[in-house]
Formats: sequence, C-alpha cells, structure tokens
Amino acid sequence: MILVTGGAGFIGANFVLDWLALSDEPVVNLDKLTYAGNRETLATLEADRRHIFVQGDIGDVDLVQRLLLEHQPRAVLNFAAESHVDRSIHGPGDFIQTNVLGTFRLLECVRKYHADLAPAAQQAFRFLHVSTDEVYGTLAPEAAAFTEEHRYEPNSPYSASKAASDHLVRAWHHTYGLPVLTTNCSNNYGPYHFPEKLIPLMIVNALGGKPLPVYGDGMQVRDWLYVKDHCSAIRRVLEAGRLGETYNVGGWNEKPNIEIVRTVCALLDELQPRPDGQSYAGQITYVKDRPGHDRRYAIDARKLERELGWKPAETFESGIRKTVAWYLANATWVKNVQSGAYRDWVSRHYQ
Ligand code: NAD
Ligand code: DAU
Repeated sequence: MILVTGGAGFIGANFVLDWLALSDEPVVNLDKLTYAGNRETLATLEADRRHIFVQGDIGDVDLVQRLLLEHQPRAVLNFAAESHVDRSIHGPGDFIQTNVLGTFRLLECVRKYHADLAPAAQQAFRFLHVSTDEVYGTLAPEAAAFTEEHRYEPNSPYSASKAASDHLVRAWHHTYGLPVLTTNCSNNYGPYHFPEKLIPLMIVNALGGKPLPVYGDGMQVRDWLYVKDHCSAIRRVLEAGRLGETYNVGGWNEKPNIEIVRTVCALLDELQPRPDGQSYAGQITYVKDRPGHDRRYAIDARKLERELGWKPAETFESGIRKTVAWYLANATWVKNVQSGAYRDWVSRHYQ
C-alpha cells in the first residue's frame, strides 16, 4: 500500500493510473479536490478496490494520522500542491497554506508514524516529495542546465513556496532521520492537463476560435517532459533512490514558448483543420508579460540517468502528437473541466 497526495491532479492522477496499470499494490489517494483536482480523471478506477479515494487536506493532521494508522503505507508520495504560477501572483496565500504549512503538517504526521513502525517496516519506508525545477530560478541563455547542486533562487510565490517545502523535507531527513527522497522536474505535458497551463490552454483556445495568448515576446524557454516519463522517474526514485538525495528529472527538450505554440497549431492544422482552411497560428496574440517571468529553465538529468538508469520513453515530437490527439479524443473531459470557476479565472487573468 502506498499513500499518494494530490492524486486527482494532473501528474498525481497520471501517476495513480500508471501505478495501478503496472502493479496490484493498492493506493490511498488523498486529495482536497481544489479547482485543479478532478475525480473524472480517475473514473476508470471507480470500482477498483485497489484505489481508495479520500477527499481531504494534507494539512488536516487528524485525517492524515488516521489514514496512516489505518492503511499502514510503505511509502507516502507528496504530489499535492497549489501549482500554477499565475494564480500564485494573483493570490499567494493558498500557496503558503498548502505548499509550506501543508507539507510541514504532513511531514510531522509521517514522522510520528515512521517512528512507531516496527524496525523492518521503518527500514523500508520512504517519503517522496515531488518538486519542481522552478526552485532554481532562471538561467542565462548560455548557462549550463540546473544540476542538483545549483543554488535555490526561487522568483515567484509558487516557486518560493515549493523551495520552502523542499527545505522542510530536507531538514526532516537531517534532523529526524526521516527517509526522504525529492524529485525536481521540469515542465510536464500530456493527458489530463488542466487548461490553465500553456499547452492545454492553447489547444482549447485554438479549437474554441479564441486568441492564443503568448506572454511578452514568447522567447521564454521551458524544458518539456511527457507526464508519463515523469511518473516513471518517480517510480524509479521510489524504488532505488538514495535516502536524503534529490534527483532532477527532465527530457533535454528546451523550447521557447512561441515554438511550442506554433507546434500545437501545426498539429491541429493537420489533425483537425479549421473550417476556413486557415492555420490556427493566425490566432496567436502577444499579451502583457507575466510579472517576474523566469526567462529560461533547463534540467540536467544526468544524475538520475547515471545512478538509476532512468531514460524518458518519449521524444518531444512523439509526446506532443499524443497529447494533441488525446485532447481531440477527449472533448467531454475538456468540456467538463471548463466550469464556471475556470471561466472566471480566464476572464479575470486575460482581461
Ligand atoms: P495540479 O495543480 O494539477 O494538481 C494538484 C493536486 O493537488 C490537485 O488535485 C489538488 O486538488 C490537490 N491539492 C491541492 N491542495 C491540496 C491540499 N492542501 N491537500 C490535498 N490535496 C491538495 O498540479 P500538478 O501539475 O499535477 O503538479 C503536481 C506536483 O508536481 C506539484 O507538487 C507540483 O509542484 C509538481 N510539479 C509540477 C510540474 C508541472 O509541470 N505540472 C512540474 C514539476 C513539478
Ligand atoms: O517548470 C515546472 C513548472 O512548470 C511546474 O512547477 C508548475 O507547477 C507548472 O505549472 C509549470 O510552470 P510554468 O509557469 O512554466 O507553466 P505554464 O504552463 O503556466 O507556462 C509555461 C510558459 O508559457 C511560461 O513561460 C509562461 C507561458 N505562458 C503561459 C500561459 C498560461 C504564456 O505565454 N501564455 C499563457 O497563457
């Protein structure tokens, strides 16, 4: 049994679906179901006895303690977070609450649970914290990619809150001996991605005949990894990572945003052409830049490749084609996540 937090979100849900496709080890899935959490993503597990879904907060000490005692997981994987940089700029409070205080409370519960385990179970137990490359800050155009030794220089409320959570996890290892692992991954994309983030937003807006809002000059660089490759990296780190270590996860796919948007448009032109025969690229609109926008991220994943033999299965070309095809084939999922709350966010943010 493992306990996953945030398993109704984009990466957590992909992780749970893949985990139960590959093994019969049950999952307790603790998720608060914020606007970003979606039970529909887990619909295929509705009658699956290996999946126990619990709606709740990682900061709810009584609930987390009860779940740990009841289910006796051999590992806790912490995906739960507020994850959207733009939302963190509009309202940082929730980010501090969940990413910092929530992680702290979760760590305290896990520390107590771990301390009371029998020696063999204590030895085998792992706490895996899922984090981001954004904690390292921004890179100059020619600078080497982030290694695990790069100093933390977070620039947004989101990345500062994730950096704080990473530090707490590290401290709970050094001070209390909690057996922790941390992964710092680059930008993910793939199925079930909430359409407030760049790639799904562009697909949804393109199909809806709306503008494709590119921030600033569109030359900010992100390093893209197909979500299922991130999930395979997490499984590998859980299985064989060295305690107390951090592992950078990335696919060596640095691309400027405008190139991503043009690629999405070209795939849509091919797979679902506009009725007027024009390219979706005609909908690209440059808009006001994100405040404090980091210019470039790039991940050096050689430690993970060298020590644990991990490699991504998808290239960017294969992954982005699968992703666009998935959105075209899953119009109902997309329609259902575009609730009133989603529409409010879009109209407020892109006014
Ligand atoms: P997401 O926003 O899609 O999902 C987050 C999930 O956490 C949601 O289901 C939400 O309901 C849940 N949640 C939020 N607050 C909670 C709380 N207090 N208690 C319990 N559940 C709560 O995020 P994501 O993109 O799936 O990211 C998952 C993790 O991976 C995050 O920690 C994020 O920082 C990290 N990460 C994301 C990316 C990326 O590109 N998306 C890259 C690297 C790391
Ligand atoms: O690097 C990992 C991070 O990637 C994760 O830690 C975050 O949880 C995840 O949200 C993501 O953060 P980004 O800010 O990089 O993702 P986002 O999809 O919001 O934006 C990607 C790039 O596209 C970024 O440079 C901003 C730009 N952008 C985004 C949106 C939503 C636009 O140009 N227009 C947009 O409308």
